[in-house]
Amino acid sequence: MSVVEELQTMNTAEIKALNDQYLINTYGTRKLAMVRGEGTTLWDADGKQYLDCFAGIAVVNLGHCHPAVTEALVEQAKTLVHVSNLYYIEPQVKLAKILTEHSFAARWFFCNCGATANESAIKLARRYWYQKGTPKPEIVTAQQSFHGRTIATITATGQPKYQEGFAPLLTGVRYAPFNDFAALKQTVTPDTGAIMLEAIQGEGGVRVGDETYLKQVRQFCDEHEILLILDEVQTGMGRTGKLFAYEHYGITPDIMTLAKGLGNGVPIGALGCTEEAASGFGVGTHATTFGGNPLCSATALAVLTEMTKPGFLEGVAEKGAYFIGALHDLAGKHNFIKEVRGKGLMIGVEMQDAATPVIQKMIDKGIICGPAGPNVLRFVPPLIITQNEIDRVVQTLDAVLGELG
Ligand SMILES: Cc1ncc(COP(=O)(O)O)c(C=O)c1O
Repeated sequence: MSVVEELQTMNTAEIKALNDQYLINTYGTRKLAMVRGEGTTLWDADGKQYLDCFAGIAVVNLGHCHPAVTEALVEQAKTLVHVSNLYYIEPQVKLAKILTEHSFAARWFFCNCGATANESAIKLARRYWYQKGTPKPEIVTAQQSFHGRTIATITATGQPKYQEGFAPLLTGVRYAPFNDFAALKQTVTPDTGAIMLEAIQGEGGVRVGDETYLKQVRQFCDEHEILLILDEVQTGMGRTGKLFAYEHYGITPDIMTLAKGLGNGVPIGALGCTEEAASGFGVGTHATTFGGNPLCSATALAVLTEMTKPGFLEGVAEKGAYFIGALHDLAGKHNFIKEVRGKGLMIGVEMQDAATPVIQKMIDKGIICGPAGPNVLRFVPPLIITQNEIDRVVQTLDAVLGELG
């Protein structure tokens, strides 16, 4: 028996029992244990099959066990898994090159996840103004935002529920309502060195940034010498039908953060920035053990190679428009749907009431989806989802809303 088979001989009840005995209970009771994935399909430990419309929270953008990504991962695992950043790393420099060729950014720092990418962005912004001799330590973020779970990033996250019990938080973070430029202007002070936003708020309920708002913010940042940080941890890597969401808005940030889809499930985060912003970090000012190691960099390189093939992103945009259109049609039929929002394959369906019963019934019928806040049902499927699969999801939602209604 192979090691993988050995590890996968438990059923859901057995996995749950061990979980409950040995893990710190931060995730609560769950119903499923997934043990295998291929493309848009997942299998649980009891052998039931699902259509995955959540992609491990917008991570597995190329689908589970994508052959080219798996091949890169396996080949790199056989060659060199890890060395520290005390050495130059070939896959890491190649990754930085391809990211640069496809974005506004000139320079990159690699880390481990979304939170460490945003943590890096906050540090870079502070250090940049310090270095210039005009310290401006304050960061303004948006209400309902989500930027991660470290102390700095729960502080940046404009949702008090994530901060409760963790005081004292970082000082120097102020919040403004999202999509409200007048309020943002009021929140900024002479000490504001950076404004950090998601172009589309993900965890906050799939709230799409207005084009005018983001353009005004960009202009305001230019006029007042403030760095614009875009958190593209969820919106990046093709999710919205462009490689990065800022491309929809005709603006570029000074600093952008990535994670989730970058490694298609292999943990890696990244901070990309302009040459000017990069000057904030000098030798010894920031570092990480794992960030950009050979294994995760080689994997991310394979992800980008696939994603930048001609037609891939256009296909995502088309499928997203089709999915959103079908959901709008469904909203016309079911009053329980309050609003359908999103871009590309980052889609939120706001319900009149809690989304949990809908999600549970969808899962019972073999479709994995999840929440984005209490009333919003979120679809963030692998970007390789087909139109037929989208039809199946919409038909299932139609049936579920019929049953609940
Ligand atoms: C926009 C955004 N930023 C940051 C994060 C944090 O990423 P991670 O969980 O990899 O630390 C998330 C995770 O959901 C996110 O959606």
